[in-house]
Amino acid sequence: MSTMYLDGLEGKNAFITGGASGIGLGMAQAFVRNGMRVMIADIWQDHIDEALAMFEQRGQRDRVEAIRLDVTDRAAYEAAVATFDARMGKIHVLCNNAGLAAGGRVKDTTYKDWDWALGVMIGGTVNGMVNFVPRMIAHGEGGHIVNTASMAGVLQPVMKGGVTYTTGKAAVIGMVEQARLDLAEDRIGISALIPGPVISNIFKIGRTRPARFANETPAPPPRRLEADPRWMPPETVGDMVVEAIRKNALYIFTHGMFRQGMQERFAKMLASLPTEQDDPDLVKDLEIFLSNPIYTQDV
Ligand code: NAI
Repeated sequence: MSTMYLDGLEGKNAFITGGASGIGLGMAQAFVRNGMRVMIADIWQDHIDEALAMFEQRGQRDRVEAIRLDVTDRAAYEAAVATFDARMGKIHVLCNNAGLAAGGRVKDTTYKDWDWALGVMIGGTVNGMVNFVPRMIAHGEGGHIVNTASMAGVLQPVMKGGVTYTTGKAAVIGMVEQARLDLAEDRIGISALIPGPVISNIFKIGRTRPARFANETPAPPPRRLEADPRWMPPETVGDMVVEAIRKNALYIFTHGMFRQGMQERFAKMLASLPTEQDDPDLVKDLEIFLSNPIYTQDV
């Protein structure tokens, strides 16, 4: 089994986007319980205030910093990183987690809808990678990155709507898989967090939409969805993430219920592969494209 590059989590620093609510806050809580210091970055001030009050109540307020940030705003992201450097010091764990429940039928989806959804889910993650990876490498203590994707990045629900969400989340999983061997050379682990249903504020869609991504004609309100009490508590996800960081796991799945659907998806893909033999010389030359130890070994 693989282990993390960091020498323990106690006393280490984390930066978590979307860290003031739901899964991000669950990770912050678990990190703090494991002796870490965290900076939570979130677009929503009342989420930040509530989160800080909760840490205060737990007697952990001194382990948490907070900053208001829209992850799609590159200049603001860089300013937040400068604040992190000044207040926290070294970055050890980065969680690119900010997200939104983007919905809508394909035919109704505007440029602004695409730009907002992908701006948060892909753009926000890119901003985290570009700013923090060189910092993690520079201090030489190793590090770990957790990028929050979704089951929707792996298996499509039977519903019309959510094409922007799936596009963003599938990209996040690809990013993690591609980056894994590359970052390992610099002693940085990376995991894709792929949650199923988790209790959160994600369905309060619209509140977190920055004005520059607003449609001229606002879309009709999406079908109202509410988190269900049977969904997983975010702090449980946080504990899973801590465990996965310690093991340097590639994937962090929260629910086993998707197994059959995933098997069906991969069976469909495999059944769609041509069966004729490819040129053996070509196969040999293209070896690096045909298999990857991230899927077959603990790397
Ligand atoms: P949440 O709404 O409780 O938390 C997301 C946080 O991100 C909020 O505090 C929000 O203010 C913040 N945020 C949104 N846009 C932002 C931006 N532009 N810049 C900075 N912060 C921003 O929702 P949840 O569920 O905890 O979502 C966290 C991540 O988990 C998201 O990436 C979501 O797509 C993913 N996810 C959630 C699932 C669930 O069932 N709750 C399932 C699968 C994935």
